[in-house]
Amino acid sequence: MSVVLLDPNKKIVLDVVDSTNLYLKNPELKPGTWVTADSQTKGKGRKNRTWIDIGDEKIIFSGKVQFNNLNLPFTLIPIFVAKAILLAIFKFFPHLEDSLKIKWPNDIYLNNRKISGVLVESEVGSNKFVSIIGIGLNISGKQLPIEIESQGGGYLLEKEVPGIREKLLGEIVGSINNVLLAITEPEIIKEEMDWIYQRLLMKDKFIRFGDKQTLKKGKVIGLTEQGFLLVVSEDESLHELMDTTDYFELLG
Ligand code: BTN
Repeated sequence: MSVVLLDPNKKIVLDVVDSTNLYLKNPELKPGTWVTADSQTKGKGRKNRTWIDIGDEKIIFSGKVQFNNLNLPFTLIPIFVAKAILLAIFKFFPHLEDSLKIKWPNDIYLNNRKISGVLVESEVGSNKFVSIIGIGLNISGKQLPIEIESQGGGYLLEKEVPGIREKLLGEIVGSINNVLLAITEPEIIKEEMDWIYQRLLMKDKFIRFGDKQTLKKGKVIGLTEQGFLLVVSEDESLHELMDTTDYFELLG
């Protein structure tokens, strides 16, 4: 098999941990292993931000996977994982299909509030590519902490649904395995990107982007097969934005 997927039998359950992503960096924990925790003391977000777990029901998850073929479009992993989260949520809450969106590259938004984030950390070896896929998902809580509210965070559900955390978790694991297999099948990537583009928060919207010295305005028109955001700027030139782009603002 060219990819070592998440193994249902390699689950580790923790009460408190610094960060589940950090925990899985231990080389003794082999690909296929995944870990969940009730809370984190040093949850990591993208771009050196922190991830604060909030609410009563939440998913704090990391999984380690391995690809044994280095010629795959690994830049797709984060956005495909966002798709996996959407599919898992749609299974239990189909009425949310129109309101859940992916904020490129890989945040999940419900009604303009961020309810989930993905942090993928990868290492390349001589003949293998190992990724630690971390997911934080705020399911529900009685209150939204003020600082999270002001930063635009939110919950998936208005009310607690007993048992939903475990159900969603099981579905997310299966769904991640499916999207990772799709990465190994070049002929279906375009179709996958079209599906994701239809659910992108910035689909057909105007954005400002670039570095601090040269900011440009443009319209989002699609996603490339590497998962980059395709933008046409005011001077009609085409840009493929990577998630490391210095500056990025959604204009509406
Ligand atoms: C982001 O939105 O910036 C990404 C947030 C990712 C948070 C998850 S929670 C589980 C895993 N462990 C971490 O330390 N971070 C990820």
